Amino acid sequence: MNIAIDGPAGAGKSTIAKRLAKDLNFIYVDTGAMYRAMALYFLEKGIKASEEEEISRACENIEISILYDQGEQQVILNGKNVSSEIRREEVGNMASAVSVYGKVREKLVALQQKLAQDADVIMDGRDIGTWVLPGAELKIYLTASSYTRAKRRFDELEEKGISCDLQEIEKDIKDRDYRDMNREISPLKQARDAVLVDSSDMGIEEVVETIKKLYQERVS
Ligand code: DC
Repeated sequence: MNIAIDGPAGAGKSTIAKRLAKDLNFIYVDTGAMYRAMALYFLEKGIKASEEEEISRACENIEISILYDQGEQQVILNGKNVSSEIRREEVGNMASAVSVYGKVREKLVALQQKLAQDADVIMDGRDIGTWVLPGAELKIYLTASSYTRAKRRFDELEEKGISCDLQEIEKDIKDRDYRDMNREISPLKQARDAVLVDSSDMGIEEVVETIKKLYQERVS
């Protein structure tokens, strides 16, 4: 049994998917973290997002694997645990920019499909329902307005004592949406058989309960 959750940046996919995985006893697979790990490698090597040939060549030197430590996904890049480093804003933007390349996607899609073959997974990303797991038993397209997503991010950063600008965050989010939805290979879009959940006016609990209900309907 596999559950696919796709949607734009900041829609709350990982928070929701983690909760669902715990409650339903699935393994949570965060595919964005894999793209971020590749992006981190390119950043560390000083390769620019525009250098497709260089990036395609470098893909051969990248080994990414996934481990679980007390239920938390850990991303290992060439033997090093990079789970914290990849959360940086700069790495997320680079991930969005390099995820347009076929070589980058090929490598990660194979790893994601292998993980889903071996266990019941809740996988979140941009192309899970449309491309990685087209046969997933339940597909969710989780979204929220760009303002809501920016405000959530803004509040998160403020809480950590990091000063930031709400308008700038919203602009970043819109740019990322545009790139993710308009790339040639596997762009972000709602799969035909996915259920749309707009969390703009919903709390975490409400979203979790909504998806659980959909899951119960599918398995009963
Ligand atoms: O979900 P995230 O913000 O960690 O993802 C970072 C970027 O990785 C996202 O902007 C686009 C890319 N990505 C992708 O192309 N396909 C996926 N399945 C997951 C992420």
